[in-house]
Amino acid sequence: MKKKILIIIGVILLSFLIFLLFFFLNNKNEEDINYEKEFINQGYSADETTLILDKVPKNEYNNFLSFGYDKSLIDILSSKDYKEDKFNNYIEYYLKNKKSNIADIITIVNSGYDLMNYPASSLLANLVKEKYYINDYVARYLDYGNSNNQDSKKIIAMVNSKADLGFYSNSYDSNLDENNLVIVNKFYHLKEDYTPTDLVTLSGQYNKGVNNKMRKEAAEAFMKMVDAASLENITLYNMSAFRSYDYQDNLYSRYIKRDGKEAADKYSARPGYSEHQSGLCSDLNEISDSFEGTDEAIWLKNNAYKYGFILRFPKGKEDITGYKYEPWHYRYVGVEAAKIIYEDDITLEEYYAYYIENET
Ligand code: DAL
Ligand code: ZN
Repeated sequence: MKKKILIIIGVILLSFLIFLLFFFLNNKNEEDINYEKEFINQGYSADETTLILDKVPKNEYNNFLSFGYDKSLIDILSSKDYKEDKFNNYIEYYLKNKKSNIADIITIVNSGYDLMNYPASSLLANLVKEKYYINDYVARYLDYGNSNNQDSKKIIAMVNSKADLGFYSNSYDSNLDENNLVIVNKFYHLKEDYTPTDLVTLSGQYNKGVNNKMRKEAAEAFMKMVDAASLENITLYNMSAFRSYDYQDNLYSRYIKRDGKEAADKYSARPGYSEHQSGLCSDLNEISDSFEGTDEAIWLKNNAYKYGFILRFPKGKEDITGYKYEPWHYRYVGVEAAKIIYEDDITLEEYYAYYIENET
């Protein structure tokens, strides 16, 4: 008898649990049912209505209804990149950019930057996806991108490096506090009287030139690199490292006399604007186009970064650096930065804009 009662109680409890489970799995409350009807009345299909109920924040249902039937809203909700907490941003941005591609709208809103005032376009969507995108420069990216048919990586490189503004169009003091990462280029210059205080002399097998001084840390790394290369039967040596302001002045004047200013500017820095004055770079082996493709040039290209050096004026980046390809000119930046510059195939200009200027 007792057993029977226990079995009956057990069955009742089990049925109740099954009922509860069923109830919670189908817990459409009355409010949801009413909204469901309203969305259907609005013209949304049953599937679309399920999507709306699932993806739109509950407190935005009324707002959603106020837009009337709009297939694009469904496209927003069904995007794989849709994020519920950005619902209001998608809507606000979409309402301002009704003709734009929904995928672009989602990408731009998801970028984390507030770009509500910029028209949605595939150009902007491609730009925000780039690793070196800097939100402060968005207007310049768009300006440059709209008037130059280039890919987004190049647009970002041109603007981050300031090359879009025109070489020598602005001039700033190089920030020496950045130490090994100081930038000296057609926008940043060193003062006439600047000479690094820790120059050391490269001698013996490390040097064959008259400008044989480098800053201490760079010189040590240089010698380490030359030693490592020699173990692989690659002979490297410095031809021109530190050059004073006056020395560069002389050099540049000679080049102008020989080739004219426009041509000279493509391969020689003006005094104060040469990285050679920083004591952080070296022209190795052969200061000539014929150095390209030699075993030594190839070794440097593939290995210099391991010792903290970068190929400073690479091929194909002339409009970013402002100089023609110089396979012989290597610049010390330290191992950490050199690795990023090498692996991401960027210039010091791009590195500096993103990792230094953008951070401070
Ligand atoms: N040739 C490099 C650009 C210089 O003159 O510093
Ligand atoms: Zn050089």
